[in-house]
Amino acid sequence: MAKPPLSMKPTGWFQVAWSDEIGVGDVHRMTYFGQEMIAWRAASGRLTVMNAYCEHLGAHLGYGGQVKGDVLQCPFHGWQWNDEGRNVCIPYQDRPNRGRRIRTYPVVERNASVYIWHDVQGREPFFDAPDIFADFGARTAEDYYPQQRLFRQELELHPQYVLENGVDFAHFKYVHQTPIVPVFTRHDFAGPVSYVDFTITFEGDDGQRIEDVNSGVEAINGGLGIAVTKSWGMVDNRTISAVTPVDDRTSDVRFMVYIGRTPGRDDQRAEDKAREFGAEVIRQFTQDIHIWSHQRYSDPPALATAEYEGFTAIRKWAMQFYPDGLGGSAADLARVREADTI
Ligand code: FES
Ligand SMILES: [Fe+2]
Repeated sequence: MAKPPLSMKPTGWFQVAWSDEIGVGDVHRMTYFGQEMIAWRAASGRLTVMNAYCEHLGAHLGYGGQVKGDVLQCPFHGWQWNDEGRNVCIPYQDRPNRGRRIRTYPVVERNASVYIWHDVQGREPFFDAPDIFADFGARTAEDYYPQQRLFRQELELHPQYVLENGVDFAHFKYVHQTPIVPVFTRHDFAGPVSYVDFTITFEGDDGQRIEDVNSGVEAINGGLGIAVTKSWGMVDNRTISAVTPVDDRTSDVRFMVYIGRTPGRDDQRAEDKAREFGAEVIRQFTQDIHIWSHQRYSDPPALATAEYEGFTAIRKWAMQFYPDGLGGSAADLARVREADTI
């Protein structure tokens, strides 16, 4: 892959771990957005994500840092830091250093995932991370089998590639072998959380008409980092795809699938079938990953007439997450479109 002309430091919510990877008292190391970070869970259960280096003399808190109740103690000289990254104790001085602070990140735990808010300008979150259950209403986690997961690290791809799948109707037939090309029924890119619905089927032959298809997918994109989907008219499945930049070239990809329980059928056979179906959904996603991880961002792209509206809308929408201005030619593309429609 060529390095994309898109910022690898976009604004938004991004997944950095799964909740069950960080138990009470654990200190978890990770690298995202070119920063060494740690996540630690206090005795109260509260999770803090902060930059990894102690503000005293720079020890990496992920190597020997210890959770003491509700603070984190540095392994080097025992200074203690709280969930706001503030120094609360210097063990050999009667008062802490109130001025120094380790950078912390807004964090939410949702759908078994740990999301942090990242913004190079340090702004507070201006939208919510999507919730795969609450945002679609009605059903809850109890109505589904446990989450099935895929984790692929440091792939040469950009989060926007994954989101662009949501307007890319033509790829379904070729990458996912759908019998016919899906049709989009909703493209709503008015706010930082966008909505894409489409009619799709994985069954039947290529002779069927899209008007006769009674199944589809609804997607909610919470910025560039997290997309949740819900299916209808087929095996009840929900997915979360989360792509988080690691450095200027690579991203970690996490993909999660929930398969719905069938009321009154909670036997082992039903569960096995659900697992099998979940594995198939994950396999389909790996087909996308195979393309994305070798793709070069085409900018401006050569588009078929029917692709123009969707790609223009999503690239214009994506601009709001690049405060450093590295958003490719999407802004120009959007201007061309506006001129066209006058
Ligand atoms: S470097 Fe952390 S206490 Fe000294
Ligand atoms: Fe896809």
